[in-house]
Amino acid sequence: MSVQQTLSILKPDVTRRNLTGKINAKIEDAGLRIIAQKRLWLTRAQAEGFYAVHAERSFFSDLCEFMTTGPVVVQVLEGSDAVVKYRDIMGATNPANAAEGTIRKEFAESIEANSVHGSDSEENAASEISYFFSRTEIVG
Ligand code: RTP
Ligand code: MG
Repeated sequence: MSVQQTLSILKPDVTRRNLTGKINAKIEDAGLRIIAQKRLWLTRAQAEGFYAVHAERSFFSDLCEFMTTGPVVVQVLEGSDAVVKYRDIMGATNPANAAEGTIRKEFAESIEANSVHGSDSEENAASEISYFFSRTEIVG
């Protein structure tokens, strides 16, 4: 086990339904600490930059549109094996396939409006964290 950091985003479907606290309670109950946090309304350019790895995917334009429909909460989580631990509690991308007890099973509206983002590797976590946060904004 190693202490890791990962990037979490609470997506616009979460802020719209006033669910930020309920989802962060699940994150904290899993033993992850929120060590940086801000609420933002992403511009189209910010959303496209963040999801640039998906630029060729059929859902890219719709995804970037969705991510700008309301505020998001971007946050850095820290804990042992944080990358995998957070992906585990998020559940599968499509809530129809998400396991019982996961965030997406409980809260996601659809495969697109699926409530949360989580980095998928330690390397991507580092670049995603630096996309939104400077070092002085991360307070462990
Ligand atoms: P995320 O990056 O948000 O943590 O989600 P993920 O790894 O589980 O899924 P990924 O394949 O990276 O896709 C990024 C986000 O794009 C939207 N999506 N829409 N309409 C579709 O078929 C589709 N597929 C993916 C979702 O919002 C997904 O979380
Ligand atoms: Mg992903």
